[in-house]
Amino acid sequence: MQSTHESAAPSASTVTSELERQLQARDKTIDVLKRRIRQQGATNEASPFALLEQNISLNNVITRKTRELEAERQELQRALTELRSTQSQLLQAQKMESIGQLAAGIAHEINTPTQYVADNMDFIDKATGSLMSLLEETLKVLAAAHDGPPDAGLIASADALLKRTRLDYLRRQIPDALSQSKEGLAHIARIVSAMKAFSHPSRGEKEAVDVHELIDTTITVARSEWKYVAELETFFDDDLPQLPCQRDLIAQAILNLVVNAAHAVSDTLTQGEREKGRIEVSARRAGAQHIDICVTDDGAGMPDAVRERMYEPFFTTKPVGKGTGQGLSIVYSTVVDTHQGEILCESAPGEGTRFTMRLPLSDSAA
Ligand SMILES: Nc1ncnc2c1ncn2[C@@H]1O[C@H](COP(=O)(O)OP(=O)(O)OP(=O)(O)O)[C@@H](O)[C@H]1O
Ligand SMILES: [Mg+2]
Repeated sequence: MQSTHESAAPSASTVTSELERQLQARDKTIDVLKRRIRQQGATNEASPFALLEQNISLNNVITRKTRELEAERQELQRALTELRSTQSQLLQAQKMESIGQLAAGIAHEINTPTQYVADNMDFIDKATGSLMSLLEETLKVLAAAHDGPPDAGLIASADALLKRTRLDYLRRQIPDALSQSKEGLAHIARIVSAMKAFSHPSRGEKEAVDVHELIDTTITVARSEWKYVAELETFFDDDLPQLPCQRDLIAQAILNLVVNAAHAVSDTLTQGEREKGRIEVSARRAGAQHIDICVTDDGAGMPDAVRERMYEPFFTTKPVGKGTGQGLSIVYSTVVDTHQGEILCESAPGEGTRFTMRLPLSDSAA
């Protein structure tokens, strides 16, 4: 695979840092000019008239310039605030959009076990009815047996009911139905709790996150996106430390990469040479200071022209309705801007793609 280390940040975040830099430069200029005015006030002792006049006009120029710069500064500040709010709205909108998209798949995932739990309950309900009738008939025989040998008719009717009840069949089927239902309910509970964990907002705060659990949660929520096109495997280092991060942003980034991987794999299935592709999601330590979260696929891969632009907001090669070109720009801003990490991409047409999010374990490692 060819390797690229992405350094240019063509995302909205570049604009933010550029505005911040300009703002700082303006602040410095304003400070210098203000200092000049103050110094002048202090050094103009017993100056001649000409010098006084010169000072007054210089003072006017400086005051006007300061006012202009102050206005410019406010303008930049406004643009910066607006940009930040657009950026966070974009992020929130994408999160809601992906939850919306996932909702249909999740409904389907929950529907299948719900259906067979309901069928099993129906079966157990009927089986319990038959067993209760048999029990009552048997109790009658038992009660009669207390007063001597029971009536032959009573025994015959109990026998007939026993035959109709198909006891052997029920003995086999009831435990199966119960254990299948328990499994189904556990599956539903897993999906619901993954959904809950995935949508929980971190409100801009970092927390210590179990990356193994975070990846499991995310791929469970996204199951309907990949399960028809790929086998998905996960790998985790045993001694993975907790990662300080904004949980929901990192989950969203993993989701974006997994959905991209599924799309890339599905593009290669149209030739019908294979039924499914392969996606691997892993988390490993990278030295003492970082964790690497990798999403690898054996899908279509990317030509240089796409790799060069893939982090640009709204850059997409997908048809309308399948992609809006926000996924990777959000991954970039999450990893690089918010978490001071690095994102690496190796990709080759026809071979596949690996994205690596390298995230620092502490602020000093960033
Ligand atoms: N794993 C991958 N394999 C091949 N191409 C990829 C992969 N990931 C991203 N790309 C390419 O990069 C482009 C940009 O990806 P990005 O996730 O930003 O947007 P999108 O997937 O097109 O739309 P969105 O994520 O908003 O639904 C994609 O359209 C695709 O061409
Ligand atoms: Mg995408």
